Amino acid sequence: MERRTIGAGALAVGAVGLGCMPMSWAYSGSRQRGDESLRAVHRALDLGSTLLDTADMYGPFTNELLLGRVLKERRGDAFVSTKAGLLVGEQHIVANGRPGYVKRACDASLRRLQTDVIDLYQLHRADPEVPVEETWGAMAELVHAGKVRALGLCAMGARGGRRSGAGMHDGTLRQLRRVQQVFPVSAVQAELSVWSPEALDALLPWCEARGVGFLAAMPLGNGFLTGTLIPGEGFEPDDVRARHPRFTAEMMAANQPIVAGLRRVAWRHGENVTPAQVALAWTLAQGRHVVPVPGAKHECWVEENAAAAGLRLTAEDLTALAGLPAAQGSWD
Ligand SMILES: NC(=O)c1ccc[n+]([C@@H]2O[C@H](COP(=O)([O-])OP(=O)(O)OC[C@H]3O[C@@H](n4cnc5c(N)ncnc54)[C@H](OP(=O)(O)O)[C@@H]3O)[C@@H](O)[C@H]2O)c1
Repeated sequence: MERRTIGAGALAVGAVGLGCMPMSWAYSGSRQRGDESLRAVHRALDLGSTLLDTADMYGPFTNELLLGRVLKERRGDAFVSTKAGLLVGEQHIVANGRPGYVKRACDASLRRLQTDVIDLYQLHRADPEVPVEETWGAMAELVHAGKVRALGLCAMGARGGRRSGAGMHDGTLRQLRRVQQVFPVSAVQAELSVWSPEALDALLPWCEARGVGFLAAMPLGNGFLTGTLIPGEGFEPDDVRARHPRFTAEMMAANQPIVAGLRRVAWRHGENVTPAQVALAWTLAQGRHVVPVPGAKHECWVEENAAAAGLRLTAEDLTALAGLPAAQGSWD
């Protein structure tokens, strides 16, 4: 697989990574597929999808434990990217950016992941109660202590401050300017996909200008852009899509022209090419610093997604995709 580099340290990873969240969090059935998930992670590494993206809050904790079972045997094949700063409570998820907490969280992640170093340690969300420089300073100390190789920041409120369109990432850009004064940012993680392209406005150019890597989260639109979800079929109550405005039967039907557009481009490249692969190739085409982290817990999806690294979209394809209708249904 093509390799891409992240950040000033030029950390090399496979062009298509693996988002491990669906193995333990957010989607129905997440928690019942341990063995299948393990096979999916091994397959990703076999195929060169080296970047494994997780977080301590996925599960919580069980996603890192699952990865630890693979890393114990194959640490040298993987690039481990995890996150800290969000705590899962009974009813709420709260930010905790206190320096002492972040350092303890890192030690706990290292234990669960069965490794002595994390390749990319990301701040999941800044804590509004703690100046972000203090949290970032503690994370920088983890680099100096050899527990972490590089630091990343996840976009704040990507769907959370619920402002879409121009200016959506203004808060994240302000945070980035502040933390850069303390220690270099190696990667930014934010949603980027054909139906959520807002990061293209300012966030992606900011990263590109500074040699900062960009991890494209939710590049498959939480599965919608693969064309395998059927409007009206519904989601289990424990699936985040059961509450997402873009996943009502009405909005999924209204957004079918986006899937149809991906399918038309896929057909130009052969009958085995899928809308999911076109969606991933679109993210890869947004810059050499972009690494999509499609979430998947099935081996077959991992294989399909890894193969997208070899799909080169033409200028005509990109024009066709740029002309697709904007997604209907805000995240508000
Ligand atoms: N930093 C943040 O705040 C943040 C927020 C959200 C996500 N993320 C990261 O981004 C990653 C990806 O996001 P995501 O998993 O929510 O959304 P996604 O990658 O857009 O979509 C994942 C969904 O698509 C399905 N899928 C994957 N490949 C497929 C294929 N080729 N054909 C058909 N269906 C396919 C998966 O199914 P199965 O699960 O059934 O295999 C899963 O339900 C996460 O794993 C996480 O690492 C980060």
